[in-house]
Amino acid sequence: MIITIDGPAGSGKSTVAEVLAKKLGFYHFNSGSLYRAISAYLIDNGVFSISNENFSEKIEKCDIKVEFINNFQHVYVNNIDYSKKLRDIKVSELTPQFSVHPTLRNIVDKCQKEFTMNHNIVIDGRDIGSFVLPNAEIKFYLDCDVNERARRRYKELKNRGESVSLEEIKRKIEVRDEFDRNKTIAPLKIPKGAVIIDSSRLSIDEVVDKMLKTINSFSKF
Ligand code: DC
Repeated sequence: MIITIDGPAGSGKSTVAEVLAKKLGFYHFNSGSLYRAISAYLIDNGVFSISNENFSEKIEKCDIKVEFINNFQHVYVNNIDYSKKLRDIKVSELTPQFSVHPTLRNIVDKCQKEFTMNHNIVIDGRDIGSFVLPNAEIKFYLDCDVNERARRRYKELKNRGESVSLEEIKRKIEVRDEFDRNKTIAPLKIPKGAVIIDSSRLSIDEVVDKMLKTINSFSKF
């Protein structure tokens, strides 16, 4: 069984997907991690821009594999485990730019489709229900007001001791939304047939409860 969760950056889809997968006894497959792993591999190989002359050659030689160990998703590129590097600042900065490349997207799509064929999973991303797995049994679109997303991110960074401005965070989120919604390849959109949940005024557990109710009602048919 495949359950997809798409939504804008900061809507909480990864956290929700993790909790939901645990409750269902499914794997939580995070699609962003695959884009991040390939970016980490490119950075390791001295590629810092999509216009670098070695970009295409490096991408074509890229073999990506996903494995779950103790329920934790490991992503390997050419047999190197990049899981610990996925949140590095440089990786976070370059992944949006790299992830628009069609060859790179094809590699990730193929890996996602192959993995999901043989497993029960909750998979989160931006184009999963709309493009990668449109025939998934249950599709969710997790929305959240931009002010609330900015407040959550602000709190998270403050707790980490970082000095940040709420206005600046909100502006960055708006820029990212604009980019994600308007990119020509795999833009963020509500998948056909998706159940929309607005998490602006809901806790993680409340969102998960709503999803479980939907899943149970679908399973009856
Ligand atoms: O969800 P995330 O921040 O870990 O995603 C990292 C990047 O990967 C993000 O900039 C956009 C890209 N991405 C994508 O293009 N399609 C997806 N399904 C998931 C992520």
